[in-house]
Amino acid sequence: MKIQDIQNEVVREVVSEQDIDNKLGEIAKLIEKDYEGKDLLLVGVLKGAVMCMADLSRHLSRHLEMDWMAVSTYGHGTTSTGVVRILKDLDTDIENRHVLIVEDILDSGLTLSWLKNNLSTRGPASVEIFTLLRKPDALKIHVEPKYVGFDIPNEFVIGYGLDYAEKYRNLRSIATLHPDVYTQKS
Ligand code: PRP
Repeated sequence: MKIQDIQNEVVREVVSEQDIDNKLGEIAKLIEKDYEGKDLLLVGVLKGAVMCMADLSRHLSRHLEMDWMAVSTYGHGTTSTGVVRILKDLDTDIENRHVLIVEDILDSGLTLSWLKNNLSTRGPASVEIFTLLRKPDALKIHVEPKYVGFDIPNEFVIGYGLDYAEKYRNLRSIATLHPDVYTQKS
């Protein structure tokens, strides 16, 4: 889905499809260099990171493995609660593995802080974070991602994996949603 398909529902595009692709290409080059000679396990955080995982991994010109975790913090609202639950754990034993967490957004930071700590207790060789988006003004806890795509303002954004009430994940770019959408509950 493109932004033109839902013109009445969005206020503005925050990151374009082309800018996302260019940035993923740049970051993939850094990852290739940083992990040269090391195995690499990408851990995607469902469901939001699906698009990032698909596109970042295809920019990487090397072997890697993928696994997935599902955690819950948001429910169907637009602000973070800080309550983290594991809905689906890894299938992989990460002992002695180089783990790169792949996330769509670092908002309050509570999810990624918790996740990094949790994975660090499992004896990995390393645990680092890639996040496509970061909201510096929304951070409630210190989290240091190794790779950040874009710093964005503290506004609720949808698209490229990010949802509102499970919709808009298939939007090709990242956008802010019109407030009317929040009030028109189906
Ligand atoms: C979103 C996002 C991150 C988290 C970031 O996931 O994908 O995992 O919130 O927020 P935080 O930095 O404030 O903790 P969400 O819980 O909406 O689940 P989803 O990926 O399934 O949409």
